[in-house]
Amino acid sequence: SQPTVVISATLPADLRAKVAAACRIIDVPPGASLSEAVPEADRALVEGVLCTLKTSIGKDQLAALPKLRVVSNYAVGFDNISVPMASEHKVLVCNTPGVLDRAVADLTIGLLICLARGMVAGDAFVRSGAWTKGAAPLTMDIAGKTLGLLGMGRIGTLVARTAKAFDMKVVYHNRRRDQAAEAEGLATYVERDALFSQSDVVSVHIPLSPETRGAVGKAELDMMKPTAYLINTARGPVVDEAALIAHLQQGKIAGAGLDVMEKEPLPADSPLCSLPNVVLQAHVGSGTVETRRAMMDLAVANLLDAMAGTQPKAMVNPDTWAAAQRRAA
Ligand code: GLV
Ligand code: GLV
Repeated sequence: SQPTVVISATLPADLRAKVAAACRIIDVPPGASLSEAVPEADRALVEGVLCTLKTSIGKDQLAALPKLRVVSNYAVGFDNISVPMASEHKVLVCNTPGVLDRAVADLTIGLLICLARGMVAGDAFVRSGAWTKGAAPLTMDIAGKTLGLLGMGRIGTLVARTAKAFDMKVVYHNRRRDQAAEAEGLATYVERDALFSQSDVVSVHIPLSPETRGAVGKAELDMMKPTAYLINTARGPVVDEAALIAHLQQGKIAGAGLDVMEKEPLPADSPLCSLPNVVLQAHVGSGTVETRRAMMDLAVANLLDAMAGTQPKAMVNPDTWAAAQRRAA
């Protein structure tokens, strides 16, 4: 008989048909609590879940779905899932690395240029008719400036590569040195403090975990130049938002470009919405038609591979897969 899977995401019709050919599907609205939204009679049957970042997977959900074998996350980040707990329950976690790097790097560079060239204020300047009374204020070159990357994974590396094309100097800080990037002349490694104190633009490219929550706090912001910009296209809680707002309000840094916030959707009464030196986006780093399709292709392939006993392409906790293979042998 076909395995039962929960789909808590909006699937294109052709991909849904692919899943339906191999599995019995239980639909759950994106973001609904799995321990509540899956009918009680079905809970003991569920072997796979395909979900978005809005779905929490922790103790309660794992306990409610005792037969669960795989969670396929429709995202590269997996801070919505307690991976240690999933591993403990022998649940494989899959994600969608690689396919969204270009889109996220593009949005990062877009925010950088938007901030440096004052493009959002510039648009308002033209629309308001202010141009008819005088020229727009001058802005900042990015060529020759230092871009500091906190995090040098796939996305950070692609941002470095792109920034080089704009003749920026790129420095990075990462837990591990990236010898390949250094050898290629993409970026120079600096100590953590130097990253904040030297950079004209600091851009965050680290995942959210208990260790990285608040990684950019008051101390880090204090080290930044008053002329420097902060960009975050990673995860909101990696930056201490209250500290950032205070720094922006007091002009201690020049501005910020944020695709992610501590609370999403960002409420319109957030002080961020009334700060003129901030450019905001609605967590859309990967939000293009092409990239979201590639992510969904990968998320569905990961789910179906795991259901069929084939090693999925992108595993977050591969030890869990290896252990299951050993048990089956
Ligand atoms: C988006 O935020 C992702 O993690 O894919
Ligand atoms: C995400 O894919 C990263 O490695 O930065």
